[in-house]
Amino acid sequence: MEKRELLYEGKAKRLFLTDDENLVISEFKDDLTAFNGEKKSSEVGKGALNNKISTELFKLLEANGIQTHFVKMLDDNHMLHTKVDVILIEVIVRNIATGSLTRNLGIEDGKILPFTLVEFDYKNDDLGDPKLNDQHCLILELVEHQDELDKLRRMARQVNDILRPYFLEKGLNLVDFKLEFGKDSNGNIILVDEISPDNCRFWDVESGEKMDKDRFRQGLGGLTVAYEQVLNRILGK
Ligand code: TYD
Repeated sequence: MEKRELLYEGKAKRLFLTDDENLVISEFKDDLTAFNGEKKSSEVGKGALNNKISTELFKLLEANGIQTHFVKMLDDNHMLHTKVDVILIEVIVRNIATGSLTRNLGIEDGKILPFTLVEFDYKNDDLGDPKLNDQHCLILELVEHQDELDKLRRMARQVNDILRPYFLEKGLNLVDFKLEFGKDSNGNIILVDEISPDNCRFWDVESGEKMDKDRFRQGLGGLTVAYEQVLNRILGK
């Protein structure tokens, strides 16, 4: 597979075209950003850890019937995947209250929610990723029909139903996470982007220690050590 011209550069990944029009390559960067790009840093090895973690989790989800864009990991920092039209909705899934849920609604940090909450944010940095309801999504034409919003929610819950017990068995509470979806060339909605400690929160079941990007957001240090721990637990090491 030949890596061709740069298609897009995001905060954590670069996207390249290939010699196959249906396939693209993501390069996972070591860059870290938070608070809509206001806080920036870089951690050597972070990109490779996220590529490896995402690879394992996409394989797990595929094996459990979730369609994803994943094709294969090419090397430490590169993943080959299907080209899609990205749906500009960030789907946030929450099992335990923290972060913006606590800030915005005053729900106690660490409270286990009575049911899994699924929220939509507008993937739009200029507007600061505001919350969306279904009517906003339709007015903005982010999807064509209500059915597609229902499908995003259904798929997000299925992903949670697979990942939450999987991580619990490995001693990690899956607190919340962000998913992105896209439409492939057949118009199917599939899971895209990455699933890593950059966009999931993991709390150690025993100690409560944060094992995700909150280590950077909150200046706790030890980010790559924590990401490596997550990978090792996934690999059963
Ligand atoms: P949230 O509590 O809304 O964000 P924050 O406290 O960082 O403002 O985040 C919920 C989960 O979704 C958390 O695991 C981080 C992830 N997330 C992203 O990956 N990207 C985003 O742009 C947002 C808003 C959240």
